[in-house]
Amino acid sequence: MRIVRTVAELRAALRDAGRVGFVPTMGALHDGHLSLIRAARAAVDTVVTSVFVNPMQFNDARDLEAYPRDEARDADLAASAGTDVLFVPSPAEMYPDGYATTVSVRGVSEPLEGAHRGAIHFDGVATVVAKLLIAVAPDVAYFGQKDAQQVAVVRRLVADLGLPVEIAVVPIVREPDGLAMSSRNVRLSAADRPRALALKAGLDAVAAALSGGAAARDAERRGADVMRQQGVDPEYLALVDPATFAPADDLTRPTLAVVAAHVGDVRLIDNLTIPAR
Ligand code: PAJ
Repeated sequence: MRIVRTVAELRAALRDAGRVGFVPTMGALHDGHLSLIRAARAAVDTVVTSVFVNPMQFNDARDLEAYPRDEARDADLAASAGTDVLFVPSPAEMYPDGYATTVSVRGVSEPLEGAHRGAIHFDGVATVVAKLLIAVAPDVAYFGQKDAQQVAVVRRLVADLGLPVEIAVVPIVREPDGLAMSSRNVRLSAADRPRALALKAGLDAVAAALSGGAAARDAERRGADVMRQQGVDPEYLALVDPATFAPADDLTRPTLAVVAAHVGDVRLIDNLTIPAR
């Protein structure tokens, strides 16, 4: 595996690379990230993984400061999962002096995560993903279903700008007890770790209520009740259209149950695809 730090080095490394697969990350790699790299490894000639803690998508300077960084560990894990080229740009490489451009995706970026984390979050994601896709010019880019709204924002971005890349989505990787893997899970206290299961329990309760014939809003209420019984207050628990993230009422089409909650001082998200009725 080669480590490159500038777009110029990256482009040189990708000359004659064949079909390129790209996995953008912010590092602190875990099995969720590695499943994206493995999916790419199985499908393309050259796998590029990026590690860049993108300052533009953080709405809180302390959160950015506290984000775990360990390049040596990330490089070992990325290589073991099949990365050929690891792109580790500096903030100055991505946002040079005088940087003034923001890519903003309207609509799908506004509710739920957009409303709770502030508009700057998905503007930052869309901007860095656009820049990375231009720098790497991959045939396929891999994203995790874990961040379902991010997937919807990226799909809209790629369609609207006409970027010549296929978006591949990889299923959520979970801990054995069902908690969705996240770089933030290590920050859960021993007392809070069992309570973190309330998110998945809430989603499962929504699915159970729907298969019992409940209407969308009633199923949402049922899921939120189950979470509260487990000591966790949802920030939101909603049934949405997977492409637009607008509230879903038509259950004869596949929908997505999405949830966010603070457990202790750690903010967690999860989601579950609900098949068409
Ligand atoms: P990061 O949080 O590092 O996640 C990188 C990719 O790994 C994302 O596509 C995310 O959905 C996926 N991922 C994380 N946990 C997962 C899990 N448990 N199962 C499956 N996939 C999982 O998302 C970002 O970084 C950034 O916003 C980024 C796209 C890199 C732009 O800065």
